[in-house]
Amino acid sequence: MKFWSFLRALVPIALLATEASAYADPGACSGQCWSHDPSVVKRTSDGVYFRFETGSLIGIWKASALTGPWVYQGAAIPKGSIINLTGKDDLWAPDVQKVGDNYILYYTVSSFGSQNSAIGYATSTTMEYGSWTDHGATGVASDSSKTYNAIDANLISDTSGNYYLNFGSFWGDIYQVKMNSAGTASSGTPYQIAFNSTGSQALEGSYMYYRSGYYYLMFSSGICCGYNTALPAQGEEYKVFVCRSTSVSGPFVDKAGKSCTTQNGGTLLLSSHGNIYGGGGQGMYADSSHGTVFYYHYADKTVGLADANYKFGWNVVTWTSGWPSI
Ligand SMILES: *[C@@H]1O[C@H](CO)[C@@H](O)[C@H](O)[C@H]1NC(C)=O
Ligand SMILES: *[C@@H]1O[C@H](CO)[C@@H](O)[C@H](O)[C@H]1NC(C)=O
Repeated sequence: MKFWSFLRALVPIALLATEASAYADPGACSGQCWSHDPSVVKRTSDGVYFRFETGSLIGIWKASALTGPWVYQGAAIPKGSIINLTGKDDLWAPDVQKVGDNYILYYTVSSFGSQNSAIGYATSTTMEYGSWTDHGATGVASDSSKTYNAIDANLISDTSGNYYLNFGSFWGDIYQVKMNSAGTASSGTPYQIAFNSTGSQALEGSYMYYRSGYYYLMFSSGICCGYNTALPAQGEEYKVFVCRSTSVSGPFVDKAGKSCTTQNGGTLLLSSHGNIYGGGGQGMYADSSHGTVFYYHYADKTVGLADANYKFGWNVVTWTSGWPSI
């Protein structure tokens, strides 16, 4: 009897423990690990890692391993964007992808809360500091006449080699537009691919990853920033959802089959846990040493909640029945 009541007393504790460890903690990061909307690329020629971050003129960090030590190299667009728009000296949301022999860096020119935005691009064959050439506009832009905000770009190639740019934040949330064969200019009209009609929680920072017949659309949902000045109500801070489709343009659904465009669908991939708070600004890629890597920025409650304290996080993805988890 005593044994059974002991066991019964133990059960709630065991359940709590399971809940608390639903997510793996972020992988190790040494050196300079400050992060905001990271973009990570492993250079194909020698396996060296490059990490690009939001703010200023898009900083470049470099490391011999994903775990670091990360060392700052300098700004990718040192003179600011040639796109003549407010925000051209404070560029956001880099997305770096390899297209042919070039690496293309997509960046955002905008200002906080404004729909006067544009997505620009720069190219390099090595990603090194000093090697980037800014080419300015991709043609993906917005003002108050649009149903979207042209920020937070992410390029994806479908299995036939056609390029698409995912983007968007607030307003109509996540959009997609077909690109030219070089991936450098839009060649069509943008259409919505994910939308949350409830509350004021916006979707942004989309990222798409292809694996085994499915296009996985991830997005950050909630309040991104300024946690040290105004802490969001519990659960309204940044978190990451995932949806999938067999087509690059959707329709995207979550694990329960709910539409991510018309039914507020989305399966949680990352939310606050333990001391890890407000994770988002994510990306995913296939790493030749680690497998599928999911990466993001987050606030560490033991360090501080200010944007200046955000850290780079990453985890190896587990795939179960065609859905990612960490
Ligand atoms: C940039 O835009 C501003 C404001 O619209 C304008 O006054 C200025 O002449 C423009 N500069 C260039 C180089 O086009
Ligand atoms: C949609 O917004 C609601 C209310 O803000 C939020 O609770 C929910 O998590 C959001 N869902 C997604 C998939 O973004």
